Amino acid sequence: MRLVILGGGGFRVPLVHNALDEHITELVLHDVDPRRLDAIRRVLRGGPPVTTTTDLDEALRGADFVFSAIRVGGLAGRAIDEEVAHAHGVLGQETVGAGGIAYGLRTAPVADAIARRVAELAPRAWVVNFTNPAGLVTEVMARHLGERVIGICDSPLGLCRRAARALHVADAAFDYAGLNHLGWLQGVHVDGEDLLPALLADDEALAGFEEGRLFGAEWLRALGVIPNEYLHYYYSTREAMGDNRGAFLLAQQQRFYDGDVDWETTRLEREATYMAQERERDSLDGGGYEHVAMALMRAIADDRPTRLILNVPNGPTLSAVDESAVVEVPCEVDAAGARPLPVSPLPDHAAGLVTSVKAVDRLVMEGTRSAALKAFALHPLVDSVATARSLLDTYARRHPELAHLS
Ligand code: G6P
Ligand code: MN
Repeated sequence: MRLVILGGGGFRVPLVHNALDEHITELVLHDVDPRRLDAIRRVLRGGPPVTTTTDLDEALRGADFVFSAIRVGGLAGRAIDEEVAHAHGVLGQETVGAGGIAYGLRTAPVADAIARRVAELAPRAWVVNFTNPAGLVTEVMARHLGERVIGICDSPLGLCRRAARALHVADAAFDYAGLNHLGWLQGVHVDGEDLLPALLADDEALAGFEEGRLFGAEWLRALGVIPNEYLHYYYSTREAMGDNRGAFLLAQQQRFYDGDVDWETTRLEREATYMAQERERDSLDGGGYEHVAMALMRAIADDRPTRLILNVPNGPTLSAVDESAVVEVPCEVDAAGARPLPVSPLPDHAAGLVTSVKAVDRLVMEGTRSAALKAFALHPLVDSVATARSLLDTYARRHPELAHLS
């Protein structure tokens, strides 16, 4: 099978390469920047034959699987998203709040164009979307690719794994639901019994894993569910303000692409500093995106029914959003694709956030000035229409790709 990675010069591509198995007989790395392709190509050892190209159509022809992992505007764009948000006293995170809206506005048209090319040149290919903001971008691509695009994230998998380890169980059914970076674990079922209440009651077990420490026992017990780590930006907005991750990574990654620091040293530093302000990490393994992607690929290629938490159209799953909205829920995957499994209804506070943030995503997808203004102003983490207007004007001035919004 021919696997194409869009954003093939991206820093985490070697992790995906290391996770590949015998299904993949041909790997094509596509990137708009040949220098980044070269730098990554040099890190790869063994595995299937690799070709690199900057020609999208050439990359896509004959593809069986496409992993889309692009970053429109690069880390320099991320640093601007963050800097402008901070100057306005709002959150600059790349997927949440004003920073996420700016990134979504820049990325949606590019994702749309790529999806059109895939539909034209590789209509039978499965597209696995890693590109953030992943829920929004998957929904943009689904307009052209339908169920052939599936969005992934490592954070629900990480949360479920850590909760299971804290409970000392090897296998469980996880009742998790929401949007990407906006989900809640509502149950951990083993042999028909829900073990989550016992975990929430156990101070020591909660102190033993990341989300337990991040949110604290009292707040978790009050909620009665375990939020995805990204809910930290909603529940502790003030404390999370001012994180300069984009600017930090821009400099840190530059040293690798300039050939001054090796890949593994750079990777370890990147992992060690991820959400470091908020928590101690349990390990430096990274989130495991590559394992989610490969498990998904194998379930489809081998027609082996597998349960994974994925970003897919909602259908009848969550009542907080309509059927075509892309949501992040447990799915059953096989050769026919991914189908959402039933989940518990979300509590009102969670459903309310899901409805609001999905409405913002949809405004971002429209791509007009008035829709973009509404997106900034109506996001739960932006507290003033005047601030929203200034954010929009500043982003339109700072990002050439957003000039049409000024
Ligand atoms: C996690 C999230 C991804 C995000 C990444 C950011 O893995 O699930 O969506 O892209 O963190 O890591 P970074 O090192 O770029 O801050
Ligand atoms: Mn993610």
